[in-house]
Parts: sequence; structure tokens; C-alpha cells
Amino acid sequence: MNGKTQALLLKILFILFAFNTLTLCIYFTAHYKTSSSSSPHRKPTSENRFPFPENRHSSKPWPILPSYLPWSHSSTVPLRSCEAYFGNGFNRRVDLLKPNLAGKLAGWFRCWYSETLASSICEGARVRMWPERISMSRGGERIEEVIGRKEETELPKFRDGAFELDGGDTVVGKERVLADEKFLNGFVPAGEIQSHTMRALFGSFRVVSGNDFECQEWIEEPVVLVTRFEYANLFHTITDWYSAYVSSRVVGLPNRPHLVFVDGHCKTPLEETWKALFSSLKYTKNFSAPVCFRHVIFSPLGYETALFKGLTEGINCHGGSSHELWLKPDVQKTARLSEFGEMVRAAFGFPVDRQVERPPSIHNVLFVRREDYLAHPRHGGRVESRLTNEQEIFDSLQNWASNHRECKVNLVNGLFAHMSMKEQLRAIQDASVIIGAHGAGLTHIISALPKTVILEIISSLFRRPHFALIAQWKGLEYHAINLSGSHADPNVVIEHLLHIMTSLGC
Ligand SMILES: *[C@@H]1O[C@H](CO)[C@@H](O)[C@H](O)[C@H]1NC(C)=O
Ligand SMILES: *[C@@H]1O[C@H](CO)[C@@H](O)[C@H](O)[C@H]1NC(C)=O
Repeated sequence: MNGKTQALLLKILFILFAFNTLTLCIYFTAHYKTSSSSSPHRKPTSENRFPFPENRHSSKPWPILPSYLPWSHSSTVPLRSCEAYFGNGFNRRVDLLKPNLAGKLAGWFRCWYSETLASSICEGARVRMWPERISMSRGGERIEEVIGRKEETELPKFRDGAFELDGGDTVVGKERVLADEKFLNGFVPAGEIQSHTMRALFGSFRVVSGNDFECQEWIEEPVVLVTRFEYANLFHTITDWYSAYVSSRVVGLPNRPHLVFVDGHCKTPLEETWKALFSSLKYTKNFSAPVCFRHVIFSPLGYETALFKGLTEGINCHGGSSHELWLKPDVQKTARLSEFGEMVRAAFGFPVDRQVERPPSIHNVLFVRREDYLAHPRHGGRVESRLTNEQEIFDSLQNWASNHRECKVNLVNGLFAHMSMKEQLRAIQDASVIIGAHGAGLTHIISALPKTVILEIISSLFRRPHFALIAQWKGLEYHAINLSGSHADPNVVIEHLLHIMTSLGC
């Protein structure tokens, strides 16, 4: 590394550090001033009597992410720009209950609306959740225990007052509705989503008088509430992770938040990654009594992320490097998916602060296999085959790789259903080339290193754009083999791979 690069790196590190410190300070002054100064007009509230010290300082810090760019609230982010889709386009602030500046104990509630995504990230302080007013299954069970359970049983239904906000002395007598129909239509539109549970959740909110706001259990640190839909599928789950990550950044959380699932889905192996990404995880029904949140954030449904909307909306964005974007902003480029991919790898302890160097003459070619798995309690057990001769292709590639003289090629058998998430991520990060038939497992390319090349084998029955788009938004080189059915000619696949290997210099 020469002196100039070093100086530049130091400068960037300093900026990142300064920015982090600044956000931390702003966060604490903005959020904790009012709650720590006790009001002389109010009787001691239950949180003083039940301090729950185990809640304090248990949240994980954010890792340093090289592709991180500030998530500042800026009204100048252009509509439908890449930053508006993937980063912070949540720039229209709507206060439903303003913070009480007189320093009295009371809650507040506001939403950050993105016109580009037609979706809001909302947050509130002094919010009480009543698990008994939310009907849904318990959640977190082993899948074998709940085979045949209907999806509607697993999704939440909210009774009035399922969520309550401490209105302090602004509420005299009867409680009132927080978010009326007009607000919901404007800022939490249902769009194409048939059962918009977040909208229903906000509709259940009541503002209650401070005198009625008592709680046995307080959670001091920020909590993100998430409702998952297709919770066993990697593509959909990544949209949920992304949404929770974006929400945490948009509201400026100084640490990684705790999570509470507001759904009753059973346990899946992907839960491990939720726990690795965030500070802790609980299901709503884990709380047997009302629970109060000092600061709670409502993560938009995964369907409202750019990752999902972009499948049909045609988002004109290409992956770019954060360093270049920092120096020269470009509305058609984004480094957000790289930032998030680094977040996922960092959550599992992989170093992201320096470029992982691969020996130039050895290449891992990762073949992501499709395997049958029990996705949810309603699953019939049969997975449609998208590549009928997958094993034959794999064997031919293996044979080719072992005879490839120009460089050493390791063909890696990506049996992801039999690997831990950490092993899956290691295989992705170590790969020069990732090959796969269309299947959710390929969504992992979000965590691939910048120079990775993707080769997707697409059957005529599943010609969908997910991975071509993710590769584009992340700036990865992408190739496709379009099959006329669901059978691939091994020689055609080898030919494509050979072409790619030549471009990699071997
Ligand atoms: C929450 O409930 C599930 C069962 O529904 C249980 O497996 C899990 O251990 C509970 N978690 C906590 C943190 O209480
Ligand atoms: C494969 O099909 C898709 C969608 O029909 C098309 O956009 C793409 O250009 C095709 N790719 C190749 C390599 O033929």
C-alpha cells in the first residue's frame, strides 16, 4: 500500500469514526433526555421500581462496514433514485404525537415516509404491547409439531388497543385512536399486499393517558418489530433482514437493536441469522403480560423493499463502490447491497475491513444445489425441479475441473441445506464463480465479494429476474443459460464456464 492510499484510508476511517460518534451523541440527546429527567408532577412509575438491569448494555455494536455511507435524512434524495430505493429515501417526516419538550414523561410517535417505496418506517417511545390482544399462534415451535397449521393462524390479528402509546397529560379521559384511515391511506398504503399486517397494527394503536400507562416489564434498549410472511425462503427472508437493517439505520440506532417477531411462524434454520444480525430475538407470545418499550421501531414488510418491488418495477440501479459514490454521488448507482452483504458476513465473524485476497491461480467454482426441504407446515414435500439433470451437470463439471490445466479449479458442492449459515457464507465469499439453477439459495450472492462472477442456469418454467437483478444492483458480472426446458447440456455449461475462467485469466 503506498503512502497516498494510506492517507486516504486514514481519512475515511476518521470520517466514519467522527460520523459514528456524532450519531451516537445526537441519538442519546434526542431519545433519552426526556425519559431520564423525572417529572415532578408524576408519581413514580413502574419503570423506576423495576429497573431490569439485564436489559442494559446488552446490545451489540455495529460492525465497521467498508461500504457504509451515512444514512442521513436528506430531503434532496431524488425520487426513484438508487439511494431512494435502497438507502434512505424515507425523508418525509410525519409526527403523530410530538415529543413533549416540557420534559414530562410522555411518549411520541412518528413515521418516515418514502414516496419512492410508498412505505413508512415508524418509531415510537413509551409504547405498550398487549400480547393477549393479538391473536395468532405462539410461534417458534418445531415445524414437526405444527404440520398442517394454516398460514392465517400464524399471521397476527390485532384487537383495538393491541398497541398503546403513553399520551401523558395530552389525553384526558378516554383514549383515542393514533392513526386514522386518512393517515394510513397516505403513509402506510396497502398497495398490492392483500393482508397488510403493519397497517392493521398501526390501526390498533390507542393513545392513553399517562396515568393509565403502567408496566411491569420495560425494555430499555431499542427494539425492532418485524412481521414475516414467507419466513423459510431465503429470498423473502433476506427482504425482511434488509428491511430491519434499513429501519435501524434510518432511525439512527447507535447499536444493533433487539428484535421481536410479531408473527406466529414456527422455527426455521434462518433464525440463526436473525440472531447473528441483531442483538436478541423474541416472539411476541414469549411475553405473557403487557410489555413496554422505551423505543420501538416498526420495520416495513419485506414486500415493500426495493429487493421485492424491483422484480416488477424496473429499478434502474447498478452496484457501485461506496468510495466513488462518496466522492461523486450518482443517482443510478448504489453501494447499499454491498454494505448489507458486509453486514451479513460481519455478523458471522468474517473480516470485512480488508479485501479478502485469493491466490490468483486457484479458483473456487461454487455450484449451489437445489435440495428438497420442508419449507413450512403447509408444504406438500415436493419441490419442482428446475434442473432435472443437476447431478449430471455437477459430475461433468467436476470431471472438467480436475482436468483443467491452466489454473487449479476447485468445484465446491453447495449443499446449502446441509450446511450452517456460516459455512454457506464462507463458500460464497471464497468463490470466484457461483453457478446455480434458479432457487432461493442464490440470493446469497448479496454477500459475495465484488469480483465474483455469477452463472445462472434458467429453466423455461422459472424465467424470473431475481438473481440477474441482484447481481446488477450489486455490480456483479452475470451470465445466464436459458434452457428450452429444464434439462441442460453439460457441454454448454462447460463452454460458458470456460469462457468465464478465461476472462479471469486462466
Ligand atoms: C419463546 O417461545 C418459544 C416457544 O414458542 C421458545 O422456544 C423460546 O425459547 C422462547 N424464547 C424466549 C427468549 O423466551
Ligand atoms: C434469457 O432470457 C431472459 C428472459 O427471457 C432474457 O432477458 C435474457 O437476455 C436471456 N439470456 C440469454 C443469455 O439468452
